[in-house]
Order: sequence, then C-alpha cells, then structure tokens
Amino acid sequence: MSEINPDKIAQLIAEAEGLLNSAEDIEQLKSLRSQIIGDDSELTKLNASIKDLPNDQKAEAGKLVGQAKGKISSRYAEVEAKLAAEFKNQQLKKESVDMSAYANLTQQGARHPLTLMMEQVSDAFVGMGWEIAEGPELESEWFNFDALNFDQDHPARAMQDTFFVSPLDAKLVLRTHTSPVQVRSMLERDIPIYVLCPGRVFRTDELDSTHTPVFHQVEGLAIDKGLTMADLKGTLEHFARKMFGEEAEIRLRPSYFPFTEPSAELDVWHPQAKGGPRWVEWGGCGMVNPNVLRASGIDPEEYSGFAFGMGIERTLMFRNGVLDMRDMVEGDMRFARQFGVRV
Ligand code: DAH
Repeated sequence: MSEINPDKIAQLIAEAEGLLNSAEDIEQLKSLRSQIIGDDSELTKLNASIKDLPNDQKAEAGKLVGQAKGKISSRYAEVEAKLAAEFKNQQLKKESVDMSAYANLTQQGARHPLTLMMEQVSDAFVGMGWEIAEGPELESEWFNFDALNFDQDHPARAMQDTFFVSPLDAKLVLRTHTSPVQVRSMLERDIPIYVLCPGRVFRTDELDSTHTPVFHQVEGLAIDKGLTMADLKGTLEHFARKMFGEEAEIRLRPSYFPFTEPSAELDVWHPQAKGGPRWVEWGGCGMVNPNVLRASGIDPEEYSGFAFGMGIERTLMFRNGVLDMRDMVEGDMRFARQFGVRV
C-alpha cells in the first residue's frame, strides 16, 4: 500500500488546518505558507514521490494529492481573506475619531453692538444720499464750544463736564459731543451739505450703570436753501422708523441748545419697548443758529439748516433693553454675542 492513501491525506489536511488556524495575523500566515502548502509541506513531498510509484497507482495517488492541494489552497485563501478583513477592522478602529469628545473650540468673534448700531444709523442716512463726516477726538475749544455759540461765560459751557487737556493755554479738549464736526463740515464742504457724523465723545463722568466717560454720539447736519423744521421732522421720523420699526413716531419738545434756534428735545414712540410702547427721550435737535452759520462762513440770509444729535449707548439701552451701560464697555463676548455674530 502506497503512503498516499485517503487516511494519510485526511491527516495531512487536518494538520494543515491546524497550522492555518494557529495563524494570528496575516504576517504569521505568510510565514507558515511554505509549511502548509509550499515547498516544505508534506503534501509537496508526497507529490514528488508519485513518480516513483508503480504505474497503476500513479493516477489514484495524483488524484488524492491534487484534491488535498485544492482543499488546502482554498482554505488558505479563506483564512487569508478573514485575517485581512480583521486587520482592516482593527486599523479602522485604531484610526477612528471620537465624535463625542469635546474639541478645543475656537471662539467665533462678534462685532460690538455699538459698532453694529453706528453702522445701522449710517446706512439709514447713506440710503437718503447723506455723506459720513469725521472729526478729531482731541478738539480745539473753538470748535467744541465757541463756534457753536457757547458764550465764554454762558452756563451752557458748564452743562457738559469737559476733559480739558494740558497745557490749558493750548485750548484743547476731548470733544464733549460730535457737534464740532458740524462746524468742520461747513468749513470744508460746499453747500448743499447733508452729513452724518458718528463718533466717540468724552465727559468727566464716573462709570456706572447709566454713565460712561467715553461714549458715542451720532450727529446730523443739513445745510441747504429753504430748509425748515418740517424737513428736520420728516428726516427724524424716517430715521426713527429705520431704528425702531414702521410704527415708530417722534415728537419734538421746545428746549435750549446754544447752537440751534429754535431747539427741541426729540422723543421717540418706541412700539417695542420693554414693558410696553412708550415715549422715550432720544436726543436734541433744532435749526442751526445763524451765529453758528456765520462762524462757519455761511450766510444765514441765503441758507438755513437743521441739526440733531443723540447718544448711541443710550439708544442701544432702551431699544434692546440693556440695563447696565458697563456691559457695553467691558468687552465680555457673552454680551456682544446676544446681538448676533456678524463679520
Ligand atoms: N450736542 C448735544 C449734546 O451732546 C446734542 C445735540 C442737540 C446735537 C441738539 C445737535 C442738536 O446737533 O441740534 O447734548
């Protein structure tokens, strides 16, 4: 009986299976390949011995060896595929990202609500064909007071708590309002003049919930032929509706400013006010005083003008229900973000 018999073959197959099953990964499997099915395998040796068998046994032996080879080869391929899949799975697991982990989030910035409001105001006027004008924050007393008809001894000069800048004889102040830009605009520009002047102003106030020594105002000035208070009122009404919605109304109450005559306090009917619609004091306005026109080189007989001014912080407070002005200066992102993140 030849060595190549079904029992022997079954035993070889079982041994090969054992080797195949022992491979833990593809590398190990490859290193066992020659032992299982390659040159070092029992099967290959048996195959080589077939030629020495008597001729009548060769066919049968060849068939047995061939079948075994086929079986082991396909098993090998199966195990190889299984190990390859396992390897790939492990690889994916190792490289996977934990989506539930907290990332180191980069903060997204927000524009300051005062900046947004000044832009909104500017847009409202640019939309009517007005221009934006600017002036210096360190201003000469002449522009800040004298040219605006504040008399040297007039109590109005003391109305605004001024930061005077040394040396005092240089006559420089941190501007207490944006009204000096009116005078600068009249001196620099040709008539007709329609300018809006947003900017930073300074007063010697302590920082508290309703005061800040540095704040913002927006000033408007129109100089043309035949302007009247009706033009002022129409302009302010349009402005109020851009800021507070279409139902907003305005009302003017007689008042006094040295640079306007007549002068008025401006109130706005704020339909969305917290706690219900109500009148809110918003700013000052009036017809430009002839003395101011003259100081700015404009003939009051030929031209007239109107002006208005209001505080941005105050407007933001009553429009958006901000209770403490300090929130506007402290730079806490949580405050700014409530007004929306816009770049
Ligand atoms: N400059 C004034 C202030 O700071 C506000 C103001 C009132 C501006 C009347 C004007 C105006 O242009 O006509 O209190």
